[in-house]
Amino acid sequence: MISFDDFDEQRSPRPSNSDFSRILDKAVSRRGFLKTGAAFGVSTFVAGGASLTAHADNTITNKAMGFKAVAANSNDTITVPADYQWNTVISWGDPLFSSGVAFDHKTRGTGESQELAFGDNNDGMTFFALSDDEGVMAVNNEYVNRDIISPAGINNEDDVRKGKAGHGISVFHVKRVNGEWQPQIDGKYNRRLTADSAMEITGPARGHALLQTKADPSGTASKGTWNNCGNGVTPWGTYLTCEENFNGYFASTDDSLEPSDAQKRYGIGKEDWGYSWYKYDDRFDISKEPNEANRAGYVVEIDPMDPNSTPKKRTALGRFKHENAELVVAGNGKVVVYLGDDERGEFLYRFISKGTYIEGDLANNSKLLEEGTLYVARFGEADDSLAGQGEWVELTLGMNGLDESSGFSSQAEISIYTRMAASVVGATTMDRPEWVAAHPDRAEIYCALTNNKNRAIKTNAGGDETPVGGPNPREANLYGQIVRWRPAGSDHTANAFDWDLFVLAGNPTIHSGLEAGSANINTDNLFNSPDGISFDPQGRLWIQTDGNYSNDGEYAGMGNNQMLCGDTASGEIRRFLVGPKACEITGISWSPDYRTMFVGVQHPGENDKYPSSFPGEPGSTPRSSIVAVTRVDGGVIGS
Ligand code: FEO
Ligand code: CA
Ligand code: CA
Repeated sequence: MISFDDFDEQRSPRPSNSDFSRILDKAVSRRGFLKTGAAFGVSTFVAGGASLTAHADNTITNKAMGFKAVAANSNDTITVPADYQWNTVISWGDPLFSSGVAFDHKTRGTGESQELAFGDNNDGMTFFALSDDEGVMAVNNEYVNRDIISPAGINNEDDVRKGKAGHGISVFHVKRVNGEWQPQIDGKYNRRLTADSAMEITGPARGHALLQTKADPSGTASKGTWNNCGNGVTPWGTYLTCEENFNGYFASTDDSLEPSDAQKRYGIGKEDWGYSWYKYDDRFDISKEPNEANRAGYVVEIDPMDPNSTPKKRTALGRFKHENAELVVAGNGKVVVYLGDDERGEFLYRFISKGTYIEGDLANNSKLLEEGTLYVARFGEADDSLAGQGEWVELTLGMNGLDESSGFSSQAEISIYTRMAASVVGATTMDRPEWVAAHPDRAEIYCALTNNKNRAIKTNAGGDETPVGGPNPREANLYGQIVRWRPAGSDHTANAFDWDLFVLAGNPTIHSGLEAGSANINTDNLFNSPDGISFDPQGRLWIQTDGNYSNDGEYAGMGNNQMLCGDTASGEIRRFLVGPKACEITGISWSPDYRTMFVGVQHPGENDKYPSSFPGEPGSTPRSSIVAVTRVDGGVIGS
C-alpha cells in the first residue's frame, strides 16, 4: 500500500537538486554521540558495545520497569510480558447503539450500520474516568482501509457514506464487568462524529473569506472532521482531536484546473487517494468548492460528556497535518500546546494561550484555545554529542518578516497557511514530527521523529531544503529518533531551549555508525519508526511504532510494530508489547488507577503480504481494535 506522503510526492514531485554535502560531512563524523550518549542522561549511555549485551539475559535490571522484555516476533496476535494479559474492548464496526447491527464479516456493513458503530482505524484516545471501573472513551478513527471496508470497491453513494462514517471520532461509555472492559450500548455519552458532523470554526481564521463556502457563506460553521490522528486532553475535561492527512480526500472534476501553490503545499491536487467522496459530495471537489480544504487541518476541541455539544475547530493552533496536541499548564498559568506537523521536512510548533488557566472556571478555560500566540521551532547546529540549542520563533503578523512582502496581510492567513508562514521565518525542517509528550515531573518535552527517506535528498513541499543537521542527523533517515528539549528556566513559555536525542533508532546487527542507533539500542529492543509517545505519571515513556514490519533486511530483528517503554533517567528502552501482523500500535490511555492500559491496534492485515485475522478466529476479517492490558496480579502497569 502506497503511503500518503509517497502519493503526494508522485503527484507533485519535489526538487532533489540541493547541495547538502557540506553539512552531511560534518554530521557523519559525529562519533562523539555514539560514545558518550545523550547530553541529558550521560551516565547510563555506556561506551562501546557494552550496552549491546547488557540485557541479553532478559533479567529485570531496572526497578522503574518491573517487567520482562518481550521478544520481537511476527505473530498474528498481541504479545505482552509474562504475568500480563489482554482482552479486546471494541473493534471496528461494533455497534454503539441498539438501533445498529452486529458487525457482518461478509458485507462489512452499510452506511447506516457504520454511522451507528465504532469507526475504523482507531488512533489517539483518552479515557475520561467516572470511577476506576467506568468511564467515557473518546477515540479517533483516523481513516478507513478501503480494501477491507469495501472489498468490491467504492462504487456507489452508500459506499461513500460508509467510508465517511468510518472516519471521525467514536465516544462511548465503557465499564469493567467481571474484570473485562466492555462498551455500553446506548450509553448516554455514546456519540459518533464523522466527516458530516456539524463543527464550529473559532479563532483568528473564523469568518475569513478563505473559509467561506456555498454551504457556509459565514465561514464559521464547518462540516465534519476526518483523518483524526493523535489526540490531546485538557485539564478542563475536553478532548482534542488532530486532523492530519486531510488533503487526500479532495479531487477535481475539472481536469484543466491547476492547483495553487498553497494547495500544493498542503498536498491538495486533482486526484484523491481513492476515497471518491468528491463524486457524491461537491465539498470535496476543489473545482466547485476551493475553500472547503481550508476548513480542515486543525485541532478540534470536543466535550466528551455532552453528546449534543458542537465541536470547535481551533484555528489559533494553526493549519497543518496535525499529529497530536500535548498540553501543559506553564508556571504562569498559560496553557502551552506542543504540536507536530507530520510530513517529511515539515515543522514542530508551540501555542501559548493569551488567557490563563483557572481551575474550575469552565467559562474561562473553554476559551483558552481560541486566542494566543503560535511559534515554530528553529533548532541550532548539533555538537559532537548530537545536542544543541534552539528557539521558538513567533508566527505573528508584523513579526519575523510576516507581512505583505511575504504574502501575509492578516493573522487569519497565518492560521490558514501556517506551513508557509513557518517557511518564511526559517523554521527547521524535521524528520516527520509525530507525537509530542511532556514529562510529568519536569519541563522536558519529547517528540518522535518517525523517519524521513527524503532527508538531504529532497526539499519539503514548499521547497525548503532538508539538510542533515541539528536533531535530524541522518541522510535518508530510515529508522527515526526521539528528540527532547528543556525550555530555559524550566519555563514552557520561554523561547530558548536546549535539546538532545533520547534515542536514535537503528540496527546494530547490520550497521555501524549512526545507522546502528544510539547506545541504548541493542539486539533486544530493535525497532523502527517511533510514532505515538506518552508518559505515565511515574515518568515511563511509552513508545509506539508505525514502521516497516517486514522483519527483513534493514529491519531484521524488529518484528511487527510494537510498544516499548523508556526510562528517561537511565536511557534504557525495553519492549513491552508486540502487535499482530501488518498493524501499527497507536493510541494509549489508562484507567485512573493505572492498572489498565488501553492500547490501540490499527490496520492489522493492511498488506496482503502479511494477512491478519486479528482479533478474531483465523479467517475472519481483520479489524482495528482497542485492547485492555492488565497485570495478572492486578498491579500497576509497568511497575
Ligand atoms: Fe497519523 Fe503521523 O500518524
Ligand atoms: Ca501517528
Ligand atoms: Ca501513523
